[in-house]
Amino acid sequence: MSTGYYIGLMSGTSVDGVDGVLAHFDVAGKPTLKGTVTITMPAGLRAELLALNTPGENELHRSALAANALSDVYATAVKQLLAKTNVSAAEVVAIGAHGQTVRHRPELGFTTQLLAPAYLAEQTGIAVIADMRSRDIAAGGQGAPLVPAFHRALFGSTTSRVILNLGGIANVTVLRPEMPVIGFDTGPANLLLDLWCARHTGRTYDENGQWAAQGQINHDLLAHLVNSEPWFALPAPKSTGRDQFNSDWLEQRLTTYGDLAPVDVQATLAALTARTVTDALAAINMQRAPVFACGGGAHNQYLMARLSQYHQAAVQTTESLGVGTQDMEALAFAWLAWAHLNKNAGNLQEVTGARGARVLGAYWPA
Ligand SMILES: Nc1ncnc2c1ncn2[C@@H]1O[C@H](COP(=O)(O)OP(=O)(O)OP(=O)(O)O)[C@@H](O)[C@H]1O
Ligand SMILES: [Mg+2]
Repeated sequence: MSTGYYIGLMSGTSVDGVDGVLAHFDVAGKPTLKGTVTITMPAGLRAELLALNTPGENELHRSALAANALSDVYATAVKQLLAKTNVSAAEVVAIGAHGQTVRHRPELGFTTQLLAPAYLAEQTGIAVIADMRSRDIAAGGQGAPLVPAFHRALFGSTTSRVILNLGGIANVTVLRPEMPVIGFDTGPANLLLDLWCARHTGRTYDENGQWAAQGQINHDLLAHLVNSEPWFALPAPKSTGRDQFNSDWLEQRLTTYGDLAPVDVQATLAALTARTVTDALAAINMQRAPVFACGGGAHNQYLMARLSQYHQAAVQTTESLGVGTQDMEALAFAWLAWAHLNKNAGNLQEVTGARGARVLGAYWPA
């Protein structure tokens, strides 16, 4: 089961696109990356997936259709990966597919990722392993973050370091010698930045943080954003999503800051991400550990500069560890598929709070 290739497909809370990787894993689960692809989410599907994050009319029907449409995008990613790498479908053992989270409510015992795995298996002729989060939640865990187990497999824990994923939500993996791995969500990252940027500039994201860089951080607002949200001070394990951090969350907190220039709010939201990440690291005494950032936010130079300013040690990207910023999450899902077929646990109970190590996901044969 450990020979052959695996594909990992990820579409995260930013709903910006689908990241895919094709990789080989050795017997210890160490990957060799053979190809990568990113497909921008079609605008109509993006709007529908975002809409499905909140209760709405006829949502069961719409969710089923959106899952099929998303699976078409996943299938296109697979086709492009195979073409790019000159690998045939028969050489791929399985696809590890995340799907699109539209609800994440571990406290109520569920998380929902839209995907049509049977349809994806049919479209690609490759086995699909999906629904990676629900078993961890069934075992009392948060169902997130799942990448820390992969980070430990990939980087080991002989050196103290922090892997920081700056997706829609920011999450950290803390690796330390002879200590359990810590991993948790720290709060919003691109999802608030994207939302505010789209509203005031019409662009879906603030490229390289150029717009934020023209603004000034409003320290009053920053303190208000941090202090008005008790979730930030909660200890790990914890995870979050659009259920919690969304335009309503922001609106409520901006009511008394109506005079602020939009560009200053953007700078302040970037500072909020940097502040909540670095505060969370300081709270576990990791303020002097080097941070390696991945995810789209690693390209936001304004955000990266704020992280460097607030953290006491170097902040760089995972490129310096040999993994592209865009590839980490998709590679983790390829690894989760590999782990499933090798009957290895994909969660870390110390990270998610689950009752134990669990094999994650379910299998749809080719
Ligand atoms: N050049 C860039 N400059 C600034 N921000 C960028 C750039 N490229 C990408 N981003 C940001 O990264 C986001 C996408 O990041 P990514 O794909 O890592 O997150 P995601 O899909 O939400 O995944 P997850 O939440 O699972 O980590 C975009 O929505 C955008 O905000
Ligand atoms: Mg993405």
